[in-house]
Amino acid sequence: MVKLQPDKDLEKLVCVKDFAADASNKLSKNALEYFQSGADDEVTLRENSTAFQRWKIIPRVFRDVSKRKISSTVLGKEVSIPVGVSPMGFQRVASFEGEIDTAKAAAAAGSIFTLSTFATTSIEDVAKAIPNGRKWLQLFIFANKAIVESLIRRAEENGFEAIVITVDSQYVGKRRANARKPFKLPRHLKIANFDPPIGLPEGVVSNDFSNISHLHNDLDFRMTWDIVHWLKKATKLPIILKGILSPKDAELAVENCVAGIWISNHGGRALDHGISTIDMLPQIREKVGNKIEVYIDGGIHKGSDVFKALALGANMVFMGRPFIWGLASGSEAGAKKIFEIIEEELDSTMALAGVKCISAIKDVYVANTPTMRCNL
Ligand SMILES: Cc1cc2nc3c(=O)[nH]c(=O)nc-3n(C[C@H](O)[C@H](O)[C@H](O)COP(=O)(O)O)c2cc1C
Repeated sequence: MVKLQPDKDLEKLVCVKDFAADASNKLSKNALEYFQSGADDEVTLRENSTAFQRWKIIPRVFRDVSKRKISSTVLGKEVSIPVGVSPMGFQRVASFEGEIDTAKAAAAAGSIFTLSTFATTSIEDVAKAIPNGRKWLQLFIFANKAIVESLIRRAEENGFEAIVITVDSQYVGKRRANARKPFKLPRHLKIANFDPPIGLPEGVVSNDFSNISHLHNDLDFRMTWDIVHWLKKATKLPIILKGILSPKDAELAVENCVAGIWISNHGGRALDHGISTIDMLPQIREKVGNKIEVYIDGGIHKGSDVFKALALGANMVFMGRPFIWGLASGSEAGAKKIFEIIEEELDSTMALAGVKCISAIKDVYVANTPTMRCNL
């Protein structure tokens, strides 16, 4: 159990919704819009959460739930809680130490921290902050493969355990609030993994948000499944594909021998009107069987959401924005409290549903109420 330092302000915040409301008062309007927004009409952003509400738990009774255990195993190693941190850029906009705060919270919770390519903290600084904490590096694939290789080498040298390749964002979704008023990184911050600015044209400084657009323009638009073979030659680290939604692509991921797939729609920031992540999980798990680990993110804000995702076949879930709200409300302590809240909620959902360990969750019925489609 994550123990918090007593903090009066944080005591009043008892769920992720409270943190979101508190953060909206603490972040500037422009920053809040950057973190909160989804693409276009934000249909997918909303649907990620509402889809979870359609799935309902059918509890079991007469089971001994006096002692419960929420640890699990991911990529062959234990996690104390099967809830990790999704990669998100620019976390130092939300708190002074940004990614360091979230990484420390993840390490204290015995979980996994995923560092974004567009982080405001470098690979090396995260490694120094959590030398023994589990950490993965998220990569976008740039047309210039020397950039990708250099990031991979740095991840290997700094104890990162896996490379997460984001496959849903070669084209950037349009977030209208930021299209109306572009979000700029404050002058004191920089895109830390590009300093010195590998691949950036001369004269482009790495703390100007326009660089992100530039870097996105540098992404490899011709990327196909061949990239997996290239990556496997480039590193021995496990490769995880983040942004899979189609069962066919999940099957291709198995054929291409990646270590895991991460069901995601980029938190509704990429393709609007794309399907919610939880609705695709049962079919994807059915398609890949037990051949591969399956992770999921998008709209997971409560312990009951975690429970449903695990019941429908996920090995681990990840959360994005809830940790940003934690940072904005209370830096490292805020991010730790997000873990603490989710842990308590997951534990109580397990007790009430008649489950004493994570592997038993899949034996609980979870039904999609409009269709009464069920996982068992
Ligand atoms: C502010 C912000 C920045 C993000 N940056 C990245 C990124 O750099 N790389 C990436 O793969 N996903 C990125 N994502 C997507 C998240 O990894 C994750 O898929 C999404 O936030 C999950 O949805 P949730 O916020 O509802 O939990 C970002 C999301 C947000 C909200």
